[in-house]
Amino acid sequence: MEKLLNVENLKMHYFTSKGAVRAIDDISFDLLVGETLGLVGESGCGKTSLATSILRMPSPPGRYVSGRIMVEGRDIIPLPEKEIRKNIRWEKISMVFQGAMNCLTPVYTIGKQMLETLNVHKEMPKPEAEALVKEYLGYVGLPPEIMGRYPHELSGGMKQRAVIATALFLKPSIVILDEPTTALDVIVQAQIISLLKKLKAQFNLSFIFITHDLALEAEVADRICVMYAGKIVELGLNGQIFGAQGPAHPYTERLLAATPRLFQKVEKLHFIPGTPPDLIEPPLGCRFNPRCNKAIPRCREEEPPLAEIEPGHMAACWLCNR
Ligand SMILES: Nc1ncnc2c1ncn2[C@@H]1O[C@H](COP(=O)(O)OP(=O)(O)O)[C@@H](O)[C@H]1O
Ligand SMILES: [Mg+2]
Repeated sequence: MEKLLNVENLKMHYFTSKGAVRAIDDISFDLLVGETLGLVGESGCGKTSLATSILRMPSPPGRYVSGRIMVEGRDIIPLPEKEIRKNIRWEKISMVFQGAMNCLTPVYTIGKQMLETLNVHKEMPKPEAEALVKEYLGYVGLPPEIMGRYPHELSGGMKQRAVIATALFLKPSIVILDEPTTALDVIVQAQIISLLKKLKAQFNLSFIFITHDLALEAEVADRICVMYAGKIVELGLNGQIFGAQGPAHPYTERLLAATPRLFQKVEKLHFIPGTPPDLIEPPLGCRFNPRCNKAIPRCREEEPPLAEIEPGHMAACWLCNR
């Protein structure tokens, strides 16, 4: 299948006064045309950092250290900002930011905020811009009157719909969704997921769907990429991760054991003891080893490579259960 995006050995670190936070530390993966790639991991694993890196806007003091982000055969890291704005960001790759629906300005109407966003990226006469905003509100199931409403007059689900519409204005082919349903209740979450599926088919989109919720990935993602402490620890098809054999990496296994499931009786929900490590001085060897119940001495000394364990399925573990 055709590749839309190819990330190769990417390193992006935050250069803080305490040292370099290795938030993205040698990550490689690709995104295929039409797929939803799920990016999952506990809070602090580097999901948002990877997303903003792909959008060529790592937040300060983040800087690219090495690697490439290939979009249509071109590495976008060295491109001038002007070129990124003109052809890449929002045009090819757009993003629904984590918590964006709660960052709408309370003093402006939804319409004004959507028009402003549109204007930043594209010059067009006001009536045309307004018509476009209304058109996109329609695509996300909102009536045109919403333009005149203030954020506090809208429910969470309606605000998130408006944010999603804004991400689609410039007809991107890749949309990164960073925890798009985390702040919503389950009913509204289901409605937003079904809207996203509809929009994906309607506009031929490919998604990078970020969440800390593995059960949600099982529902939406074609492939799942599991991140831990700035690295990919497992990458496989939905059926390989959630199939009868179960995940290959102990971290994914523990994450799954800690995920409530609707249709299965769960004897006991197991949380993973400890927290993800400090990324200024991550543990030697496998970064998960201090929390892993299967670790052997080698795991504390040598870092396991992300290696293929069956076609299309990779894991970074010395003992993965395949
Ligand atoms: N602007 C920043 N400056 C310094 N450290 C940051 C910054 N943003 C994120 N980090 C650190 O990078 C790591 C990954 O964070 P993040 O990408 O937000 O993870 P996630 O989205 O998976 O929760 C964390 O250790 C976080 O504290
Ligand atoms: Mg995040």
